[in-house]
Amino acid sequence: MSLVAMTLLAALPAGAQAITSRDVKILGGAEAAPGQFPWMAALVDVDSRNAADGIFCGGTVVAPRVVLTAGHCVQGTTADQFDVVVGRTRLSRGTDGERVGVTQIVRAPGWNSTTLVNDAALVQLDKAVSVTPLALAGAGDAAREAAGQSVIVSGWGATAEGGDVSDTLKYVRLTVRSTSRCNALFGTINAGKQLCVGSNRAGEDSCQGDSGGPLFFGDGAAARLVGIVSFGDGCGRANTPGVYTRVSAYASWITQEATVLNGGTPEPTPTPTPTTKKPTVRIGKISCNYSCTVTLNVTGREPAGGIVLNVVRKKTKSRKGVDRFVLAKKSSSGRWTVKTELPFGKLTLYAIPLTAAQDDLDGNGDVERIEIVPN
Ligand code: ARG
Repeated sequence: MSLVAMTLLAALPAGAQAITSRDVKILGGAEAAPGQFPWMAALVDVDSRNAADGIFCGGTVVAPRVVLTAGHCVQGTTADQFDVVVGRTRLSRGTDGERVGVTQIVRAPGWNSTTLVNDAALVQLDKAVSVTPLALAGAGDAAREAAGQSVIVSGWGATAEGGDVSDTLKYVRLTVRSTSRCNALFGTINAGKQLCVGSNRAGEDSCQGDSGGPLFFGDGAAARLVGIVSFGDGCGRANTPGVYTRVSAYASWITQEATVLNGGTPEPTPTPTPTTKKPTVRIGKISCNYSCTVTLNVTGREPAGGIVLNVVRKKTKSRKGVDRFVLAKKSSSGRWTVKTELPFGKLTLYAIPLTAAQDDLDGNGDVERIEIVPN
């Protein structure tokens, strides 16, 4: 409840007084059908078991684990203080849709609680929800947020200025106004970052509790988000448009942050701490069957330039000397193998770990004396 009071105070311009007028239906439009706006989210006080008692703002699912809302909705609020409800039309129907916790809040840079500019925040959900996210209006949609364009706002906010929030999700069609209409009412708004949106008819508007919710155009899969409910002067007053955060001005921030919050970008991969321990190579199993396979086992880091096996046979009266180098192949971490023919006689095998330039010893090698006899 205190959250609701706070958002109201934050959003009502000084001097605006709450008048109750029963016949002013704010979202004047209509009740939403179940599933009509699947990405519609409600921010609900964590202590209210009945979401209809605890709703204090709207939001839009922009990724399975990310909800976009207004900055003033989460002003002074921590992630443990509220839940997000999605997939529900009638808020009090606790069995519908999903109610999930919040793990993080990311406020738009430059959020100013006095001028209410940069009124946007992203909320990370503690689990992915199964509803369809709403796409942001793209660069090609600029014409759709120009003055005169038709847009829709939806929410569970008050249905009358000073009235109670609605248990049923409602929506109303509004018209984008020129910024100057809002400048006259609110002092200068930021045309690049805010939208001025109203109706020709009194009694059609968003209201307290709708904040943070979506302003969009298009139906179904073609719907695109253009605004976030931010503030107004009362609700539904004649010739009194409201102010909405212009989503296109935040598109790259939203996309980037939402990707991170959604878990799409793994934390910058921590460069694997190199095992600084110098390699030690041990000559392991030697098995011969026509040709031979010599296994080399490495502890510590792998030799930078690989391992070479030096096969040496001393020259005798009856046999020529042999001095051959064979490069080992890495077969798995810490395990290298050399496939080679080994000559008959008494051999000395040297396993030599090499530096990257392959001109020096990298770590500790191994020596083994064996005798290969014909069978
Ligand atoms: N700031 C309000 C809220 O916190 C939304 C007000 C919208 N007002 C309007 N007249 N369009 O819910």
